[in-house]
Amino acid sequence: MLSRPRRNRSSAAVRNLVRETELTAGHLVQPIFLMPEAKARLPIASLPGSYRLGIDEVLREIEQCTAVGLNSFMMFPAVPEEHKDKTGTYATAEQNFYLHAARAIKDRFPEVCLISDAALDPYSSDGHDGVVIDGKIHNDESLKLLDAMAVAQAQSGFDIIGPSDMMDGRVGSIRRALDQEGLTDTAIMSYTAKYASAFYGPFRDALDSAPRQLADVPADKKTYQMDPANAREALREGALDAAEGADYLMVKPALNYLDIIWRLHEAHPLPIAAYHVSGECAMLLAAADKGWLNYEQAATEALTCIRRAGADVIISYFAKDFARWNA
Ligand code: PBG
Repeated sequence: MLSRPRRNRSSAAVRNLVRETELTAGHLVQPIFLMPEAKARLPIASLPGSYRLGIDEVLREIEQCTAVGLNSFMMFPAVPEEHKDKTGTYATAEQNFYLHAARAIKDRFPEVCLISDAALDPYSSDGHDGVVIDGKIHNDESLKLLDAMAVAQAQSGFDIIGPSDMMDGRVGSIRRALDQEGLTDTAIMSYTAKYASAFYGPFRDALDSAPRQLADVPADKKTYQMDPANAREALREGALDAAEGADYLMVKPALNYLDIIWRLHEAHPLPIAAYHVSGECAMLLAAADKGWLNYEQAATEALTCIRRAGADVIISYFAKDFARWNA
């Protein structure tokens, strides 16, 4: 035998020499669920280890994360039912706790990277990412609301806007709205290939944001999120987002969509982000809880493989634990 691949696996030192993929906390983003009561720390039954946090707890959390080299955060608001309406007015309201929190975080930790979520669903009494008019998700009316939301978020200190709504044309529309307000330094991380996935359940529990059953609109997001059966369509979305000025292209979920991550990575010079979503993390946590998997090993493997597939940035509920294990 002239060639023996096992020689390159023979010791930890050798394995380190030949390792093709490095993953550090610098590549990771920790999602944070924010709620209005300052001291709150509410568990999420379907996502053990994650909490809905008030601003005091969020500041503490960010301090702990930065201490282990994790400096990027994606924020989601758990909006009380009384603030929800059909057009998500509260998204840009003066008293909006999400916008206030961004300012408080950037005041205290100016060096962290804060990523927003721009979509109507946390604010919508219908639970949809766009506005429902006459029994339809109205694309172009939704763009106006998203533009205003993005501008308010950028003005409150978010470094990156994350449109997660999947309306057509939203990246270009948001880019123009930001530029018009002089917010040319605020980046856009577009949810480019966001699939109508069954793996968002724990997230929707956390925010109570599941699409509602309306008389004339189905309780799913299939008219705007992508069909899991499609891959070439992701390239079409990628081409549009790149042309419209996106700074990052995101694939979501991650583990069942590694081929999509790879295709976008090959097709575009933009950084590729992957969202390792709540249901993917919950499955692994449930198995670990039963003693069927080792949490640290399985989570490290999952994150490493997402990066190997071509993700530059990984958003994961395991980010903080990974950073701690490797600090
Ligand atoms: C909302 C949004 C969702 C997620 C991120 N932004 C849910 C959805 O589209 O219904 C899911 C993230 C996760 O499951 O971790 N626009």
